[in-house]
Amino acid sequence: MWVNMGNSIILSRLRRSVTELSVRATYRYLERATELAASGVEVISLGIGQPDFSPPGYVIDALKEACDKGMFRYVSSQGTESFKRAVSEFLKCELGVDVKPDEVLAVPGASAGIFMGLYALLNPGDEVIVLDPAFPQYFDVVKVLGGRVVPVKLRELSDEFVVDIDNVVSAITDRTKVIILNTPHNPTGMVIPESTMMKLLDVAREHGIIVLSDEVYDHFVYEGKHTSCLHHPEWRDFCIYVNSLSKTFAMTGWRVGFVVARREVIQKLSALANNIYSCLPPFIMYAAEVALRSGLDWFKEVLREYRRRRDLALSELRKVSGIRCVRPRGAFYLYPNLSDILSELGLSIGDFVELLIVKKGVVTLPSTVFSIAGDVEHIRMSFTVPVEKLLSGLARFKDFIDELRSMRGRVK
Ligand SMILES: Cc1ncc(COP(=O)(O)O)c(C=O)c1O
Repeated sequence: MWVNMGNSIILSRLRRSVTELSVRATYRYLERATELAASGVEVISLGIGQPDFSPPGYVIDALKEACDKGMFRYVSSQGTESFKRAVSEFLKCELGVDVKPDEVLAVPGASAGIFMGLYALLNPGDEVIVLDPAFPQYFDVVKVLGGRVVPVKLRELSDEFVVDIDNVVSAITDRTKVIILNTPHNPTGMVIPESTMMKLLDVAREHGIIVLSDEVYDHFVYEGKHTSCLHHPEWRDFCIYVNSLSKTFAMTGWRVGFVVARREVIQKLSALANNIYSCLPPFIMYAAEVALRSGLDWFKEVLREYRRRRDLALSELRKVSGIRCVRPRGAFYLYPNLSDILSELGLSIGDFVELLIVKKGVVTLPSTVFSIAGDVEHIRMSFTVPVEKLLSGLARFKDFIDELRSMRGRVK
């Protein structure tokens, strides 16, 4: 017989993996920044990764048009035919790959695609190789599904982060079901070079391991070029590709993305979608379709601006003694290494980030948010704010370190 051990029936009856889950730290810091701003502090948030430009005007017009046309009904769980066709044509145009419309699933953002892909693949006890540091959702979802994350640390060289293929191979066991790849990479800005990407894909395939490839930053590439898992000739055999309009089209709150996989897998994922959210709102898919069909000419200007911010922020950061910062090739984050400063000041990365918020109103994220392999040395700074704000955030950051140093000098 069931015995109520606590003072709430429902809390004691929650699924165990769910009791261990909490709202992603990136969102908690977003809330923190919002609260601080509401209390009158002039906050500079370099925390959450959310583009600061707006989607093109014609996308907003398309949304209005869809509403005027009354596109409010249930539609196919897999996505409307025209949305799937638009994705297929976009991938052909931008990546040069042939993806058929029935190999596409519309999802409410890449996050949902990641969850559903992993849900479809994992049985309890299955292992998932994750390059560490990583987008924290991967850790949470694998855990909630009863899988085990096997982190493989990225190597930090003097001016780049790299994936060590030998370390990936060493992490493979009989229980490895999935490798999650993410390029361009959050939080380091690494762009996995084509040869490495192809080797990783080959290694996975040889071992019968599925690749879940999260490519949401694919158009934010400042140096080198993006290589997709869809460039592998056999992708249908072992890949699930996830992307969204959140970053490239600055449509984070619209919740629209897409998964690509072989047709039979998409059919199963559609059945899952059907049981979770039935379908995406047709008016959102209509506007998204217009965005995809209109191409990325307008995005060149965005990319130029983001590159300018990257260069300016990097050069400012590198002026601070004790900081090492790899040049990000893609995405929109800087991931400076603070290990020297932290040991000089006797602070943990968590304390540093907290003090920076409290004393200077600058929100950044500690590497502990992105790592289960023990990265306690970095912070992530998003360059998704206008240049003046970015430079002022960096000036406050520099003052903060100077002040801590002089306080420490006085204590000595
Ligand atoms: C690597 C990565 N994947 C997925 C997402 C989530 O994207 P979406 O808004 O499409 O759910 C993010 C958001 O920050 C991300 O950084």
